[in-house]
Amino acid sequence: MVPETLKWDPSGESLLLLDQRTLPSVVRYVTCCNYHQVAECIENLTVRGAPAIGIAAAYGLVLASSEGIDLVRKAAVRLASTRPTAVNLFWAITRMTNLAERIKETAGMKKMLLEEANAILNEDINSNISIGKNGQGLLPPSCRVLSHCNAGSLATGGYGTALGVIRAARESGKQLTVFLDETRPVFQGSRLSAWEMAMDGFDVTVICDSMAASLMKTRGLDAVIVGADRIARNGDFANKIGTYGLAVIAKEHGVPFYVAAPSSSIDSSVISGEDISIEERSSEEVRVLPGGIRIPDEIKVWNPAFDVTPALLVSAYITDRGVFRYPFFFDDH
Ligand code: MRU
Repeated sequence: MVPETLKWDPSGESLLLLDQRTLPSVVRYVTCCNYHQVAECIENLTVRGAPAIGIAAAYGLVLASSEGIDLVRKAAVRLASTRPTAVNLFWAITRMTNLAERIKETAGMKKMLLEEANAILNEDINSNISIGKNGQGLLPPSCRVLSHCNAGSLATGGYGTALGVIRAARESGKQLTVFLDETRPVFQGSRLSAWEMAMDGFDVTVICDSMAASLMKTRGLDAVIVGADRIARNGDFANKIGTYGLAVIAKEHGVPFYVAAPSSSIDSSVISGEDISIEERSSEEVRVLPGGIRIPDEIKVWNPAFDVTPALLVSAYITDRGVFRYPFFFDDH
């Protein structure tokens, strides 16, 4: 069974985060006793994936709440500064701070914020199950499917969005063959998605990101399914770098390209993808190659963590609210 992405430890009053930096070689949890540690874990990718970082931030605010509203406000600013692209982070922080502002008094605040963080976690899992149910019908009875990055159990409260649709398709009796892009530079596809799919007994094959076009042309593919970090009102969306290229390739080869995401990934305040802020991460992620080989420092590196795929390339959105086809018009959650 895939280990839980994150869990609250009531005895230690702490948040335990599955360390996604060391998977699949080392399975261990990092203990966070305060919001500073949670923020650091979001920044350094101990916990990653749009819904998962929102849930982690919610528990980070629980940790801050024992000292009252002032610290909750401070923690909210710090947690919101960790990663700019996934809207789920800001959605969860807003939901938690709105509640804290309504309560104001320190007594009882922690208990109520903990209940809210637990609710965010449980709603995310239920939302993923709905996404799976809504999306599985799009896949044929025998299906070769490709996914990118990790939009699975490890990126969410559990079950997953894109990988949740694949899980639901199998639960409904379909035969799935799963391909995973390795997803340079952090390898979320090969280290995380392939691992969690293999653990669940799927027929899994890892390919380099550059092999997707050849896979579609020479061996055939029935669908591409990816997650999303932020969906604009017009249906443009940001996801892990490489998603845009995959959508272009899928269109060229007539392969349906699906995006699976919860309502908390929709940002209706953003009109189009042009207005989505794209995180640029340290050049070290690209510079240091597996095995420790290093691209010389005098060579420049560009490392955007996400890209934006235009709505026109999306065959359908699969959300907890249902399946949507172009033209898209997403309003608030
Ligand atoms: O940088 P990461 O690993 O946090 O990026 C994650 C992704 O891009 C996922 O595909 C996305 O968050 C969807 S997760 C359900």
